[in-house]
Amino acid sequence: MTVRSLQHVALAVPDAAIGKKFYTDFGLEGRDDGNRAIMRCHGRDQDQVILVEGPKKRMHHVCFGASAKGLAALKARLQQNAVRLLDPPNEAPGPGLWFRDHDGLLVNVREAEAAPWLDGQELSFNYPHRIGRPGQPGYPPRDTQVRPRRLSHTLRFTPNFEKQIDFYTRIVGLKLSDRAQNIVAFMHSGEGPSDHHIFGFITSDKPGYHHASFEVGNIDELGMGACRLLDKGYRDGWGFGRHVIGSNFFHYIRDPWNSLAEYSCDIDHIPAGMDWKPTNYAAEDSLYVWGPKPPEDFGRNFESED
Ligand SMILES: [Fe+2]
Repeated sequence: MTVRSLQHVALAVPDAAIGKKFYTDFGLEGRDDGNRAIMRCHGRDQDQVILVEGPKKRMHHVCFGASAKGLAALKARLQQNAVRLLDPPNEAPGPGLWFRDHDGLLVNVREAEAAPWLDGQELSFNYPHRIGRPGQPGYPPRDTQVRPRRLSHTLRFTPNFEKQIDFYTRIVGLKLSDRAQNIVAFMHSGEGPSDHHIFGFITSDKPGYHHASFEVGNIDELGMGACRLLDKGYRDGWGFGRHVIGSNFFHYIRDPWNSLAEYSCDIDHIPAGMDWKPTNYAAEDSLYVWGPKPPEDFGRNFESED
């Protein structure tokens, strides 16, 4: 296998400053780099979202990390499968291999590993059978900073559902975690421990960017982050709830271009060497265990309409 981490997503947007403002409000930290804005998580030495200028919002590329050995194996597989290697793009250059998937998305796999991220504060809960916080109030300070710790995963729309799963598992080196029929599929890294999913697809008539998800320290940060963005006037995407596939708590907020940014925590973890057996969920039992009903536009591919 090859891919061991999701390193960053790059989005082309009409105005990088608007994107930088959104992700700063979301809790990331940004810096300008010429026409680009580069967003990171507090205390973590890794780019997470790169905003480059483009006429319309599109995912510009996705970047995965691999070992040197994994990268060499990937190069051989790409050549065996007649996938053309490309030069790095001028507007977002970087090392490693560059190629396109079945939907034309630019993919970069470079020698890199995930940088360490900050700890989350562990919450103590009072359960009916076990008091975890005797004599102590549990509410978080009102000035708690909401700081996403890292980019967790990203999901794309595709009209080539099976082809894309095949491409990313057989050639790029991800592994299928779980799927729901021909609607949605999630993949984890092919090497080492991994979140339940770092990349995935949802069926659509055209390619597009659905969301990126960022792990916060705990459920208080998730709730406070979403409420603060709603107070600032950003539009609710969907939440608060708990997913079935991956189990993570979620709250999605619409970004300025009608795609979504997700706060998440407590996603399922797949240890290194574990042979995770994918489940093919029924469509009606795949999305969430509890939470408000998803809004009608949750699965709408706005990119296919412009
Ligand atoms: Fe997600």
